[in-house]
Amino acid sequence: MSAPDDRPLAVGDRIELRIDRPAFGGGVIARAPDGRVVFLRGAAPGDTVDAELVEVRKRFLRGRVVRLTPGDGRATVFCPYASSCGGCPWMPIPLADQRAALEAHVRRDLQRLAGDGAGAVDWAPIAIAEPARGWRSTARLHWHAGRIGYRAAGGQAVVDVQACAVLRPPLPALFAAIREALGPHLSGRGTLRITADPASPSGTVEVRPAEGEQAGLRDALRALVEGDGPCHGAVWFTGGRSESFGRPHNRLDGVLHPAGAFVQAHRAGNRLLTAAVLDAVAAGPAGPVLELFAGSGNFTFALAAAGRTVTAVEIDADAARALENAARRRGLGDQVRAFASDAGRLTPTILSTLPGGPSVALIDPPRTGARRAVGALAGLGPRLRRVVYVSCNPATLARDGRLLVERGWRLAAARPFDLFPHTGHVEVLAVFDRGA
Ligand SMILES: C[S@@+](CC[C@H](N)C(=O)[O-])C[C@H]1O[C@@H](n2cnc3c(N)ncnc32)[C@H](O)[C@@H]1O
Repeated sequence: MSAPDDRPLAVGDRIELRIDRPAFGGGVIARAPDGRVVFLRGAAPGDTVDAELVEVRKRFLRGRVVRLTPGDGRATVFCPYASSCGGCPWMPIPLADQRAALEAHVRRDLQRLAGDGAGAVDWAPIAIAEPARGWRSTARLHWHAGRIGYRAAGGQAVVDVQACAVLRPPLPALFAAIREALGPHLSGRGTLRITADPASPSGTVEVRPAEGEQAGLRDALRALVEGDGPCHGAVWFTGGRSESFGRPHNRLDGVLHPAGAFVQAHRAGNRLLTAAVLDAVAAGPAGPVLELFAGSGNFTFALAAAGRTVTAVEIDADAARALENAARRRGLGDQVRAFASDAGRLTPTILSTLPGGPSVALIDPPRTGARRAVGALAGLGPRLRRVVYVSCNPATLARDGRLLVERGWRLAAARPFDLFPHTGHVEVLAVFDRGA
């Protein structure tokens, strides 16, 4: 079925499209005969597809690929789930094209922020982290109705995935062990976060059933950890309470992270990013650093090793405690202070650790950005001269950067990092300086 020429396109119409370019965040873009953009998944630029329209809006359409004629610009798809699983929507797109698209997207979003001063911005090329397969050292999996895997492309359903091609060792073994040990006990729905410990042949799992107590699952989890396999620790969350089994943490680049805490997924990429963060801080003014959204100290201890005094703020109490304990164990109790607190509320207690105020702020918020935290930073005294902003979402980075620019700050430098190959996502390091 196809749309007749004389009526507007409607849901259910089938149209032929030539795929034009990658869509930021996953998927690809084509142009419909009426000029509107069409978002699709499972294709690569240069492919020709028959698409069924599943959403029709004034400005854009969404389609589902029903037949695909490959173009000659495709990459080898190395996962049998690539067309149904939502994890790696850009797998059919060559890595060089993925990176060019990410770089262009970041530049477009931030260029608007730089305004007339765009010429003065130090735009560094995208940093590339290898490997692009087997790179993921942490992943959030879902279970529902007997299926264990990732969310479906463009939907909420869970795709049952027997093995995931982008997990790095020991996660493939850990995933297999979880399927075997926990699979028979996974009723209802819930999430599993698996994280690798690169220094050992094992990792951790955090289990969060969505509904009620599940005694069988809890017992199976304990047995999994107590066995001799690839799971050395677990955290079990139900009813707002948590219980730990085994060693519920991992050592990543010398920093101990609790099983449920945030960790950067690409280890080599994290090292590139950390080095760039250190350079950006070092190139700013000397003096104490205020680090917001600090996690368990991924950047904190690198800054401390470079001689900086750091006050770190993190809302996840387990992560903040791990950071504080690690500082004490390393004899850095006076140099590194940690607060389990909301980064949007810089309390007098937090600020009292920074007499005279910080000279540099380092922030690394989640995808939702740091609107309140940036507002709080903008209200700090004139000693604060540089904000180093690490972002996994250029849209919220641009929004928050606008707040700084409106208060007299300028974008000095920006660099994208390809830390999530095949996903259509990107990490960005942006540096803002006070004054012209
Ligand atoms: C992208 S992670 C970065 C963590 C750390 N910088 C790293 O590289 O591992 C964002 C962190 O912000 C924390 N977070 C989220 N909302 C927060 C808030 N309102 N205040 C403080 N921390 C928050 C999360 O718990 C998470 O650890």
